[in-house]
Amino acid sequence: MHDGLENVVAAETVLSDVDGLAGRLVIRGLPLSALAGRVSYEHALGLLWDGFFPALPRDLTRSLGAARAKVFELTSNRFGAASGLAPFDALRMLMGALPDRTDLDTALMIAAAPSVLLPAVLRQAEGKSPVAPEADIGHAADILRMMAGVDAPKAMADGLDTYLVTVSDHGLNASTFTARVVASTQAGLDSSVLAALGALKGPLHGGAPGPVLDMLDVIGTPGQAAGWIDATLARGERLMGFGHRIYRVRDPRADALSAALDRLRSTGNVDATRMALAGAVETAALAALQRHKPDRPLLTNVEFYTALLLEALGFPRDTFTAVFAIGRVGGWIAHSREQALTGKLIRPRSIYVGPEAKEAA
Ligand code: COA
Repeated sequence: MHDGLENVVAAETVLSDVDGLAGRLVIRGLPLSALAGRVSYEHALGLLWDGFFPALPRDLTRSLGAARAKVFELTSNRFGAASGLAPFDALRMLMGALPDRTDLDTALMIAAAPSVLLPAVLRQAEGKSPVAPEADIGHAADILRMMAGVDAPKAMADGLDTYLVTVSDHGLNASTFTARVVASTQAGLDSSVLAALGALKGPLHGGAPGPVLDMLDVIGTPGQAAGWIDATLARGERLMGFGHRIYRVRDPRADALSAALDRLRSTGNVDATRMALAGAVETAALAALQRHKPDRPLLTNVEFYTALLLEALGFPRDTFTAVFAIGRVGGWIAHSREQALTGKLIRPRSIYVGPEAKEAA
């Protein structure tokens, strides 16, 4: 038995490869370094979806923009029903109102939905009217526009674009596997993506970046980093933003996001004090984790720099997991199609360790 299915191969995929020893992520034949900060999210989506939908346009910018508009039109009369819910729960609820088919139009709408719904529920929570999408502009720029009600500086849109591309796909992680399990039953894309959203929510998967900022806030100053970290590990607690099931070296996505932060820093949107604290915490955490688990490399993962980048882009920390979903939804859809097209139902076995059956009296 493999606890947590560790090292179990459960699918063949042409989508992405995570090499945990080399610290390499390849998406459709391209290393992450050739994509993050270099291509738009729409381009990455086109790469991921290539071969899984007939008549896929070469450039998805307009189709995804039109899908954002369609989602707003289909769901805006339900925004009120989501008020009072936490952003991720509101997203999950509203996503349930979308069509559950497997054609390209449905895929585009489901891919667009988190980007439209998150800004809408955030504005609603602040007592502001949701802003309708602008179909003709880039996906990342439109998300920031729908959030703020005004156009965002290009550097910020570029930073968000880099983030969305960086997290668009990552092998058979928990949420992607969940999406594939549902798709293997030949259910629709909305069902697969809703299930994946549920898997993403937990702190061991997509829920870590908010707690990373909580950790920085509690630590407060660089000088207190080492003491706080040692005490936390001594209590048997985990440090959020460190460790990974696959990577035994630094997560390449951490580098992509750290580079995006560096680019953003020159625009004045990054708080230098915050970055100095984060640097001290990262250094102290890596040293402490090395002492704590000398045989198990526990290094910085994607969530550490996600937290810093999304904070610099103005997202409240309780939305970070939902912003992750805005990027990862493209991968979930590609994997769902890939799995469904195999025609094979995913159905593993379990070993029964309960009491022996008693004969009826
Ligand atoms: N802080 C402290 N200890 C950690 C740790 C962390 N961030 N991550 C793993 N460990 C320890 C575990 O406590 C465990 O110790 P044990 O053998 O004494 O029980 C050991 O390292 C192995 O951990 P395990 O949970 O078996 O590894 P995994 O591959 O299942 O876990 C994560 C991977 C991501 C779930 C894990 O590293 C973690 O919880 N990280 C913090 C949350 C996080 O950043 N999540 C985002 C992931 S991108």
